[in-house]
Amino acid sequence: MSFLLTRLFSTDIGIDLGTANCLVYVRDLDRLVLNEPSVVVRQVNTHEVRYVGARAKEMLGKTPVNLEAIRPMKDGVIANFEVTEAMLREFIQKALRQVPWYRRLLPPRVVIAVPSGITEVEIRAVKDSSKRAGAGMVKLIEEPMAAAIGVGLPVSDPCGSMIVDIGGGTTEVAVISLGGIVYSDSIRVGGDELDEAIMQYMRKNYNLMIGVLTAERIKIAIGSAYPVRDEMKMEVRGLDMNGHVPKTVTITGEEAREALQEQVRSIAEKVHAVFEHCKPDLAADLVEHGIMLAGGGAMLVGLDKLLTEETGLPVFVADEPLNAVAKGTGLMLTEEELWDHNEN
Ligand SMILES: Nc1ncnc2c1ncn2[C@@H]1O[C@H](COP(=O)(O)OP(=O)(O)OP(=O)(O)O)[C@@H](O)[C@H]1O
Ligand SMILES: [Mg+2]
Repeated sequence: MSFLLTRLFSTDIGIDLGTANCLVYVRDLDRLVLNEPSVVVRQVNTHEVRYVGARAKEMLGKTPVNLEAIRPMKDGVIANFEVTEAMLREFIQKALRQVPWYRRLLPPRVVIAVPSGITEVEIRAVKDSSKRAGAGMVKLIEEPMAAAIGVGLPVSDPCGSMIVDIGGGTTEVAVISLGGIVYSDSIRVGGDELDEAIMQYMRKNYNLMIGVLTAERIKIAIGSAYPVRDEMKMEVRGLDMNGHVPKTVTITGEEAREALQEQVRSIAEKVHAVFEHCKPDLAADLVEHGIMLAGGGAMLVGLDKLLTEETGLPVFVADEPLNAVAKGTGLMLTEEELWDHNEN
């Protein structure tokens, strides 16, 4: 079909299909139209989808027996195809409802950001799921590249830029120069592992079982990667493991930091390892321009300080770290040559 007709009767959508959050950008509206947790609640017996997104996340750990709350993405990739597809369908339809009717006559062209290390099988799975969820042409772009573009790093320049995207499932580090990824690596450690570390800490030190949402709240409210001046405290409610009764304890910021220490360390080591793989001139660029942090994990208090101390480089946190990848996919949509090769 001719290029003009496609442009007129369809719309272009950029998706950050994240482990924790899914964001959708619509080219014609030039903005993010949707930002929801990647969670689905469905009927246990019929698999009928009941809630998707924010409503569904609130229900994690609280569903009655006939419902199950599922996070279909794990470690940055699809863990449950059926549920991912249902979620994507819901999000794509929701985005399309915001564009004029004639822009819905043809299926949307979709750009999806995926982790840089995913396998061919995983790539196929993302493409197939998106198509079954209503997408027309689907292109995948590597998350670190999307994040770098989204935060406005000069990716096309002959100058090394370093981006660290700390998401829910993975942390990806990448050095980009001349429009391509020079080096990238990722670990399956992100916000989810930090939450898990807090849950373990509470079990070990207080005999207290807490839910995953409580752990996330602790991390965000009082967690840190580096000592802060005014350490905070927080009351935590959970289930006592001995008596199996509800119990409340108070934990301090220092304790939360201790709980997160090991995972934070493995993130810092990944960042550090980049320099072993960098050519001298690229390393020199990084020393000058520093490291940019994106993804929700970038907001962990003191992570920038810790990484500065570890690497000796200036470290910056992106303005809207949670939106970086989606913004990048949105900007990619306007690159017409992206759509030139019809390989899928
Ligand atoms: N203020 C904060 N401090 C620390 N962590 C935070 C903060 N706000 C959000 N997070 C964490 O950020 C994570 C979500 O980040 P993000 O949306 O970038 O992940 P994602 O893109 O869905 O995951 P991935 O890229 O791994 O697939 C969650 O684990 C969340 O708990
Ligand atoms: Mg992400």
